[in-house]
Amino acid sequence: MNVLLTGGAGYIGSHTALALLDNGYNVTVVDNLITGTSNLVPKKANFLLSDISDEQKISKLLKDNKFDVIIHFAAFTKVGESVTFPEKYFENNYDKAKTFLNTCLKFNLNKIIFSSTGSVYGQVNKKNILEKNETNPINPYSKSKLKFEKYLYSLSKEKKLSSIILRYFNVAGADSKLRSGLLTNPDNLIKAICEVALKKREKLIINGNDYDTKDGTTVRDFIHVTDIAEMHLLASKNLNNDFSSKSEIFNCGYGVGYSIKEVVDEMNRILKENIKFEFGPKREGDAEYSVADISKFSNKFKWKPKYNDLNYILKTALEWEKSI
Ligand SMILES: NC(=O)c1ccc[n+]([C@@H]2O[C@H](COP(=O)([O-])OP(=O)(O)OC[C@H]3O[C@@H](n4cnc5c(N)ncnc54)[C@H](O)[C@@H]3O)[C@@H](O)[C@H]2O)c1
Repeated sequence: MNVLLTGGAGYIGSHTALALLDNGYNVTVVDNLITGTSNLVPKKANFLLSDISDEQKISKLLKDNKFDVIIHFAAFTKVGESVTFPEKYFENNYDKAKTFLNTCLKFNLNKIIFSSTGSVYGQVNKKNILEKNETNPINPYSKSKLKFEKYLYSLSKEKKLSSIILRYFNVAGADSKLRSGLLTNPDNLIKAICEVALKKREKLIINGNDYDTKDGTTVRDFIHVTDIAEMHLLASKNLNNDFSSKSEIFNCGYGVGYSIKEVVDEMNRILKENIKFEFGPKREGDAEYSVADISKFSNKFKWKPKYNDLNYILKTALEWEKSI
């Protein structure tokens, strides 16, 4: 299978490219390196340095190659930044993505897996979240993602496209062989914890300790990045096998919630010392509890997670952080 993968110089895209290549797929990465790093693009992948909205470059690529499936990761991903610069997020995550997809459609490439986010659900109650739950995104990043989801839906209705929308919860950890990992993202809790553990950062600020949760800190569903990569492998096989002109949404997580404090405690056990942290004010737009119900993906794809273990997630993230 030939996969056109955008954002493959970034964190999740590079892990997915590795998983696809490890399983004998051909992968072509398109990335403009705006937040990505060329070193993360696997050596065995073809690489086109381009913005996804560069119609000339993308058209040439599509004229010269035949792709079966698109996996679209390229986007801006920082919630805090999106609040300050919302237009930047709608431009990159919606307008440019739309231009890119329309270029692909001109070449009859009409199967896409789209990276969306569990944050499209917004504030929810304590129940694990189902795909049919109402969406109520509370920041421009999540709104830009939901807007593109809706665009995919409209194209499916017009029978122009088949898509699988994957709503990831909190992606963390690193490749076990340390071929890739997270390089930058100030919003990523586990990266921040690793930086404090390795004395690259003075202390961790935990935003809020009076939420209505087991210990007052927010609860999240952490999923190892290699499991996320495998979910793309399964989804791309499925999409390649038929053109249903459907748009299907799946949550991607483990369905297990850990509080931020529990994550810190687990890291302390690994380090056998206590990392320095302080409680800070709540952050605007942070959901209290964000845990997926993952039965839809598990049932459809007969998927079982391989790395559903907070200790393993933290250890791989820590090893990666040491290596960079
Ligand atoms: N990291 C998470 O926990 C998480 C959770 C939910 C959803 N997601 C989604 O997963 C996807 C990947 O996230 P990530 O954490 O790997 O981010 P990342 O910043 O590491 O990777 C994004 C990549 O896209 C590239 N890119 C951005 N805009 C581009 C453009 N216009 N043209 C070409 N390349 C462009 C960047 O250079 C980068 O390499 C994103 O769509 C994000 O919204 C991530």
